[in-house]
Amino acid sequence: MSDFAIEISGLKKTYKKSKKSQKEDFEKVALKSIDLKIKKGSFFGLLGPNGAGKSSIINILAGLVNKTSGSVKIAGIDIDKNLQATKFKIGIVPQELVLDPFFNVRETLEIYAGYYGIRKADRRTDEIIEALGLKDKAKAAPRSLSGGMRRRLLVAKALVHNPEILVLDEPTAGVDVELRNQLWEYVKKLNKAGTTILLTTHYLEEAEELCDEIAVINHGEVIAHDRKENLMKLLSSKELIITTLSDVTNIEFLGKLPQLRSKLLAHDKISITYDPEKIEMEKILQTISDNKIQIRDISTKQPDLEEIFKHLISVK
Ligand SMILES: Nc1ncnc2c1ncn2[C@@H]1O[C@H](COP(=O)(O)OP(=O)(O)O)[C@@H](O)[C@H]1O
Ligand SMILES: [Mg+2]
Repeated sequence: MSDFAIEISGLKKTYKKSKKSQKEDFEKVALKSIDLKIKKGSFFGLLGPNGAGKSSIINILAGLVNKTSGSVKIAGIDIDKNLQATKFKIGIVPQELVLDPFFNVRETLEIYAGYYGIRKADRRTDEIIEALGLKDKAKAAPRSLSGGMRRRLLVAKALVHNPEILVLDEPTAGVDVELRNQLWEYVKKLNKAGTTILLTTHYLEEAEELCDEIAVINHGEVIAHDRKENLMKLLSSKELIITTLSDVTNIEFLGKLPQLRSKLLAHDKISITYDPEKIEMEKILQTISDNKIQIRDISTKQPDLEEIFKHLISVK
């Protein structure tokens, strides 16, 4: 038996048609060559900005999108050999809120349980409805549900066959704080009980709070993959914005300082991204004044995800 819930190697995806215009001469390389191993029982975060390729990976796992090449194993089963068998191992909550409008909440879950061949006596419909706070809505049509409630129903749907792996593709987009917290409590509980969780998000805080292992992807490539603690250290950088008294043309001297990236934002503005654990701000400011640049103003900010991605790419 494999120790991995999901094993992805050399996974490539090129879309041949544009999503919107259905243009035929379109080619979009969404996944360059992804290698990822997700340990059984882990709470794994797939982090990346919009368009990074997260949903493409998830949809390939779900059998909704055909890969261009590479291999994917779910619970040790190769999707090329037995896609149908993998479906019993994995529950997928898609990013898009698609639901069948003709069935109410309870019916939707019953139909899915039937689809997986679960006998009536073995179904957990009520338990799932209860666990996800859908009891009041059991007879409601999906159309009448709020975005947050629809998301819950999609989670419920992914759980009817008691999968060993639960995949959630940006589950908190458009969900209010209370629902989000409840959803996380429940997902944490499932993880404690042994379910492997794969979560995609573009919120750094979310991955930080929940995951034990994180892979960062950008432009269809894995640019970092580590245990959370290690990755957070890498991400602890700060950005310093320095406004100068006179115009600056050359900041190459800053490149000599360790683990630091600098760029000119304007003639009198320098942005410096640095790791406070590696170098003190004092030292940076000293180096600037040693180079005869007078400082008018200093501000610092926590870099946003975009900055962090750039940092990760630059140190790679
Ligand atoms: N069905 C599709 N047809 C064509 N291009 C697509 C399709 N789905 C995704 N893409 C493109 O592939 C890239 C990755 O998209 P996606 O996997 O949805 O990223 P993410 O989920 O990280 O936002 C994007 O440039 C997107 O426009
Ligand atoms: Mg997506």
